[in-house]
Amino acid sequence: MNNINTPIKRNSGLQAAEFHKIISERRSVRKYDLSRAVPEEVLKRVLDAARLAPSAVNFQPWHFIVVKDAAVKEKIKEAYPRDWFWTAPILVVGCVDTKASWKRKDGADFAEIDLTIAMDHLILAATGEGLGTCWVGAFDVLKISEIFKLPENVKPVLMTPLGYPADKAPVKNRKRLEDIIHIDKF
Ligand SMILES: Cc1cc2nc3c(=O)[nH]c(=O)nc-3n(C[C@H](O)[C@H](O)[C@H](O)COP(=O)(O)O)c2cc1C
Repeated sequence: MNNINTPIKRNSGLQAAEFHKIISERRSVRKYDLSRAVPEEVLKRVLDAARLAPSAVNFQPWHFIVVKDAAVKEKIKEAYPRDWFWTAPILVVGCVDTKASWKRKDGADFAEIDLTIAMDHLILAATGEGLGTCWVGAFDVLKISEIFKLPENVKPVLMTPLGYPADKAPVKNRKRLEDIIHIDKF
């Protein structure tokens, strides 16, 4: 993305059924087609979905580092050494600014909640564009902070690869609705 300020080209409308299809078709993709680049306008729509996410008191305490450069990706390998991660053309690192987030009276910091909502927007928007993603939380936070020279108040929380899937990811089971929904009592 050479110019972040160019207007975003919107895609066509979306009905509730299509939205549900996107939710149900999202998978953790762990094999990407590195030869297929993600068009700039597609990437921009996906990132804009994160921008539009709600946040506590609308503080928007998030930053997203978009990694395309092979040398930078190489450095990130140290923080998350999984072979499949490097098959994607783009990596997105979602960070929170703990100075910018809302704190509840009991001290709870809403930064990670806000970031997770924004990442979900990004991931579902990517699914809608035919892109694969995978939530990644099991990385070395200190290493990522070092690589990007993050200030003390900025903390990496979640990453995702972004690219066209190279194959169909397996469907994972979910608990049944009746096991998780409680009407009027727990
Ligand atoms: C917050 C969060 C963190 C995750 N971290 C990792 C991770 O570090 N590595 C990984 O391979 N998958 C990770 N996952 C992916 C889950 O394993 C995956 O979402 C789950 O098994 C359900 O599969 P599905 O996404 O294909 O439906 C994470 C998912 C979430 C929501």
